[in-house]
Amino acid sequence: MNKQIILLPGDGIGKEIMESAKYVLNTVASEFGHRFTFHSHAIGGDAIDQYGTPLPDDTINACEQADAILLGAVGGKKWEALPGNIRPEQGLLGIRKKLGLFANLRPIQGFAPLLHASPLKEEVVNGSDILIIRELTGGLYFGKPSERIKDGKAVVDTLYYERSEMERIVEKAFESARLRRKHLTSVDKANVLESSRLWREVVNEKSKEYPDVTVEHMLVDAAAMKLITAPTQFDVIVTENLFGDILSDEASVLTGSLGMLPSASIRSDGVGLYEPVHGSAPDIAGKGIANPLGMILSAALMLRHSLQMEEEADEIEEAVRACLEQGYHTADLSVKNGKQVGTKEMTEAVVENITTKSVSDSICSTYA
Ligand code: IPM
Ligand code: MG
Repeated sequence: MNKQIILLPGDGIGKEIMESAKYVLNTVASEFGHRFTFHSHAIGGDAIDQYGTPLPDDTINACEQADAILLGAVGGKKWEALPGNIRPEQGLLGIRKKLGLFANLRPIQGFAPLLHASPLKEEVVNGSDILIIRELTGGLYFGKPSERIKDGKAVVDTLYYERSEMERIVEKAFESARLRRKHLTSVDKANVLESSRLWREVVNEKSKEYPDVTVEHMLVDAAAMKLITAPTQFDVIVTENLFGDILSDEASVLTGSLGMLPSASIRSDGVGLYEPVHGSAPDIAGKGIANPLGMILSAALMLRHSLQMEEEADEIEEAVRACLEQGYHTADLSVKNGKQVGTKEMTEAVVENITTKSVSDSICSTYA
């Protein structure tokens, strides 16, 4: 199968970790007989430097033609003083909106060798396996007006949602819960916000179509607390854009490192953009020490959700798990009695686990 993949390395460590994802994908391609064609395009601060805009038309056009998109990270101190509409983050928000990638999936799953580094006690966090589904193209992030008013003496941001935008994300959440432990927690602020009251109505209405899924409504402040006191009680969480942004960063450290987390931003036809949850980490950019695993695991999500390559995705995830069990870790991770390595060695270790696994699989099938 020949697939066109657009690479948007972006800023900071984005370029280094994108090389890792490419190497791993090429390895998977040769093991499984696929062909991936990669094209790189600019986004974020990198695009501002080259073209004066965080999201050039050329990047949008390329993404519109792609089978799937991989993104590294955007942002950095260098561009912080720029006005709001030409900041690197606008590139990311713009591409999500342009492509209609309304569903953001952030799976939070522990890796046993990392759990001791969780800020929570191991017995609290052990066994947590959460999928956060965040609405990604509506709410406060995109509502207009969003500006200073009254000569700068006041300010307004707008929380706007269409009912249909709520329906499609809630449906996605029910479908996902059905494939997991069938428990859905809908997070809102219905004691204060009208938008949350409509959200609840939509969830209750949709739940009639999914009698096999248990639904629980939780206020966002309570959810933030519950995530750190009883994380194992969650299965799938669904929530609006801003709440999802905040809760997913909180949840990401439960399992020991933000550096491990992948994310998928998809729409109904399966087209998607895949990126690690961590940022561009400009302080360590170019030093060869960035953790490539969140990016590599994002590539696995891409294979699963956009390219229907479930077995290939499993193989990457197993290889990452194997590396950590063998003790390999980057500077941001802590593995007891482990071996600290840089970006390239970590990537090599993943590739090695993929290739040795397929060699041993073929030996097994030869002798079966
Ligand atoms: C994320 C990030 C972005 C967001 C920023 C970089 C605009 O924090 O993907 O969670 O808020 O959506
Ligand atoms: Mg965020």
